[in-house]
This record gives sequence, structure tokens and C-alpha cells, in this order.
Amino acid sequence: MSSVLAAFEMAGLLTGLENGTLTRAVVKDRGSDESALLGASLRYLTQRGLVEESGDAFTLTEYGRDVCRDKGYLVWLVGGYGEPLRRMDAFLSGEKRYGVDYPRDGRWVADGAAMLGRKDVVPHALRLLEGVEFDHAVDLGCGNARFLLTVCSRFGASGTGVDISPEACAEADKAVRAAGLTDKVRVVRGDAGDLSAIPSLGETQLMITFFLLHEILAQGRDALVAYLSDMAERLPQGARLLIAEVRPPAAGENRPWFTPEFTLVHALMRQTLLDAKGWSAALADGGFTVREVLEDDMPGGILILAERTR
Ligand SMILES: C[S@@+](CC[C@H](N)C(=O)[O-])C[C@H]1O[C@@H](n2cnc3c(N)ncnc32)[C@H](O)[C@@H]1O
Repeated sequence: MSSVLAAFEMAGLLTGLENGTLTRAVVKDRGSDESALLGASLRYLTQRGLVEESGDAFTLTEYGRDVCRDKGYLVWLVGGYGEPLRRMDAFLSGEKRYGVDYPRDGRWVADGAAMLGRKDVVPHALRLLEGVEFDHAVDLGCGNARFLLTVCSRFGASGTGVDISPEACAEADKAVRAAGLTDKVRVVRGDAGDLSAIPSLGETQLMITFFLLHEILAQGRDALVAYLSDMAERLPQGARLLIAEVRPPAAGENRPWFTPEFTLVHALMRQTLLDAKGWSAALADGGFTVREVLEDDMPGGILILAERTR
């Protein structure tokens, strides 16, 4: 069911179910193979109670709407990590290694993260930024740059987005053009691990890292602290660092939703996660003082606003 719903979203068909424009005529208009598979998928979703026919259109049932509210998580998992998860047998037997073989899909990791973030993380993050003064923001691991664009439009700032994935950068470039912000926001393809290659850090009053720092932590806590210290040195005094991460499931938590999956997927990439206390300690060691920590609506999601104080 997750694969079918994620596929509908990724193929641009879910909106039709959400707004009632996926009609029998639309299904029939496709090539014969696509039309047959689309018909079969709609029947399957109907049998599963997610879709119903209303007049000539296929629409989501109440249960379907409920499930599809989490479509960002489905796209992130199925679209982003479907391939490496399918190949887990080869990783478990040691025949193949994640990173060399069967990587994740950068476009859908970025799009899924942005989709789930828009609903569950962004409103909290924007509230945290209300008291912060900045005229230039850098977003490390910007994905499709939707958050950076929102921040720059809302607060009238300029911005630079950095991402290592060519697919994510292509989506980000498209989003910048669509927002009409090419004069204010630029996207740079590069490794956020190398801060010396990132332009204008000395004039950056806001640094954003959403779901990026655990990639640095994969090299060990010392590497993370060295990275934060390097960042602190390059930023002006008083600059803010806004971090979104997901904590691992807490001990004794009864079958939490999502955090075990998030933790496992990152273990597959040889990455570990920290809780808010762990991040705060690493930030302090790296020259930042934590100003605010809050839980957002993402299961296990934490937002940390820190200030460069050293
Ligand atoms: C889970 S996505 C989050 C995207 C975006 N920050 C958001 O919240 O929607 C993580 C992003 O970090 C990028 N990334 C991972 N390692 C990176 C690195 N070393 N340098 C730059 N980007 C990196 C990935 O390509 C991906 O787009």
C-alpha cells in the first residue's frame, strides 16, 4: 500500500485523487498498459478502503485522506530508500556496501523530506526565527530548497543553498526560478563537509542545517565537533544556527511511530542519531550556545536554535 501511494504521488497522480480530478476519462486517456495498471491500482486502493468512486471521479475516502496526510514520509521511505532497503540482503551478507552500491535516490529523499517538513517542521521553525535578525542565510543540505525559499521570502533575506546531490540541486534550481527569486537565492552543488568552499560565510547571520548534521556525525563525534568549531570560526559573532534532526526512539517508548524506521535507515548508511541533550553537548563543545530546543510535529523531531558565541 505504501509503495502504491508513494508511486501515485511521485507520478503526479495523488493530487487528482485529493481534488477529485482523476476521472474515468483521465484513466482511459492513458496508453493501454498505463491505463490498465492505473485502473488496477485504483481498484486495489478501493479494496483497501483508501479510494472511492464518486460520480465519474476517484477520490480519497476519509481513511485515505488520513493516510495521505503522511505522504511525505511514504515518498521519503519508498522513493528515497526503496532501492537500498530492497538490497538489504546484499548488505547483510557483506556482498555489497551501501554508498558504493545501491545508493538512495537524492531527488525523492529531498522531495519527501520537504513534503513532510512543510507540514510538521516548517511552521515551528519559522516561529523560532521570528526573533532572529539576518539578511543572509545559508542552508546546508538544502534539498529542493523549499525551506530556504520560504525563509528568504518571509524575512526578506538573500540565501545560498548547498547540496551534494545533483538531483536535489536540479529540483532546487527549478524551485528558485518558479519562486522568481533568482536574484536573491542561489544554489551551489557541493559538499557541505568542506566549509572553506562555501561562499560568504563571514556575512551569514543564519545557518540552516535540516537533517544534515547526522551525516557529519557519521564520521564520529570528534569530527562533528571539529566541523562545528570550523563553522563557528567562519561565521560572524552572534550568528544563529538552526538545526532540525530526529532523535532515536527513547528507552521504554512503546512502539513509537517512525523513529525506529528513521534510525534503521540511517544505520543502513552507517549513521547514528543523537537526542537533544547529545546535540546540545556537541554544540557547546563546538562553540555554540543553545538558545532554544523544541519538539516539532515530526515523530521524534527536534529543532535547535543555537548562537555562535566563541
Ligand atoms: C533528508 S534531506 C533534507 C533536505 C532539506 N534540508 C529538507 O529538510 O527538506 C538531506 C539532504 O542533505 C543532502 N546532503 C547529504 N550529505 C551532504 C553533504 N555532505 N553536503 C551537502 N549536502 C548533503 C542530501 O543530498 C539531501 O538533499
